[in-house]
Amino acid sequence: MDSIIVTGNGPLKGQIPIAGAKNACLTLMPATLLSDEPLTLTNAPRLSDIKTMSALLESLGAEVSQLQDGQVLVMSSHALSSHVADYDIVRKMRASILVLGPMLARDGHAVVSLPGGCAIGARPVDLHLRALEAMGAELELKEGYVHAKARNGLKGGTVEFPLVSVGATENALMAATLAKGTTVLKNAAREPEIVDLADCLRRMGAQIEGDGTGTITIQGVDRLGGATHPVVPDRIELGTYMLAPAICGGEVECLGGRIDLVGAFCEKLDAAGIDVSETEKGIKVSRKNGRVKSVDVTTEPFPGFPTDLQAQMMALMCTAEGTSVLEEKIFENRFMHAPELMRMGANIDVHGGTATVTGVERLKGAPVMATDLRASVSLILAGLAAEGETIVNRVYHLDRGYESVEEKLGNVGARIERVSGQ
Ligand code: UD1
Repeated sequence: MDSIIVTGNGPLKGQIPIAGAKNACLTLMPATLLSDEPLTLTNAPRLSDIKTMSALLESLGAEVSQLQDGQVLVMSSHALSSHVADYDIVRKMRASILVLGPMLARDGHAVVSLPGGCAIGARPVDLHLRALEAMGAELELKEGYVHAKARNGLKGGTVEFPLVSVGATENALMAATLAKGTTVLKNAAREPEIVDLADCLRRMGAQIEGDGTGTITIQGVDRLGGATHPVVPDRIELGTYMLAPAICGGEVECLGGRIDLVGAFCEKLDAAGIDVSETEKGIKVSRKNGRVKSVDVTTEPFPGFPTDLQAQMMALMCTAEGTSVLEEKIFENRFMHAPELMRMGANIDVHGGTATVTGVERLKGAPVMATDLRASVSLILAGLAAEGETIVNRVYHLDRGYESVEEKLGNVGARIERVSGQ
């Protein structure tokens, strides 16, 4: 398995291009299953999770071509040759569950393995299933698979989510586009990836209102057509790279970054004493002199502070002046980066869903282990600020969500290299 070696090398300077959002692309791709006409996605990120979703769609009979070095995906699901999403693919990535709603809506049946993904908590899919049941689906769980049927097609209904779920909202939204009648999703997720999915579905002919608010109303249509849709910029990649100059000084412009995608995060950077400004091409971040100030962070559904930036923010707080309290409210086991950061000299105390971080002057390089996608990149960020060499082992999670991380950070002056493992 590959490792990444980072050597603390002082201030960064330059530009980092932000790719299309992994999480948006992973929900836009299954939308191809809703139509027999081609769906083209531009600004797609080049990541192993996208390859996994391509393989899953192909296993169902869809054709997926990658153009322009993978930045354009052309998908066509003329007729599905299988309605079974196999465990061998699904276990690699939780987002695989997103093929369930579209297959069921289009053909009235689907069998999907229960998913795997990052080990950041139990992460059940009960909300996905309850939403589809509210639209008339009959579901059975057998030997690790969900067997779903809607003999006379899905019917519109009211779905009230007991807690906000991005994936369950996406699955229900896609399914409802082809259901008979009107579906109302209450307590729906408001993430930019939901709005991006709704935009794409509208381009395909769906009738959707209220995306970006807690109530989404979908008027079912008989069929959806083809479309070309640009994937929204990745707000988590954006936030991650905004933290690079915040952590080790300098000035970096994140090309294609949009403030509206990272509002709550920018407020915390501002409170920490980091300069953030909009430019013509994106967002510029700079840290001039002195130590960062400690800030408290609580993760929440959008528009709150994203759980997917909690690990990276913790890396920043490790060298801040004072004590910060980070509260994780979305996933119950998402502090696995804390003991790794402590190996680098960080002072962190974890109790349940709360981590108290007391900043130290300087972190020290150490061999560390990447445990999940966002944890991996938080260790790289910490390594940028540390004295000496940090070796981040087991970086395969990183490749699921960050394209060309060595190149992007290397181009702004970081000393970072990948070492191939066996
Ligand atoms: C998506 C993102 C992930 C991000 C998360 C929260 C993708 C591919 N992944 O994940 O990067 O961290 O949103 O912003 O877009 N839950 C249930 N039952 C369900 C579904 C969820 O109890 O059926 C719980 C989860 O365990 C979690 C909470 O709801 O505690 C939120 O999860 P959810 O928003 O569904 O996350 P994902 O869609 O899996």
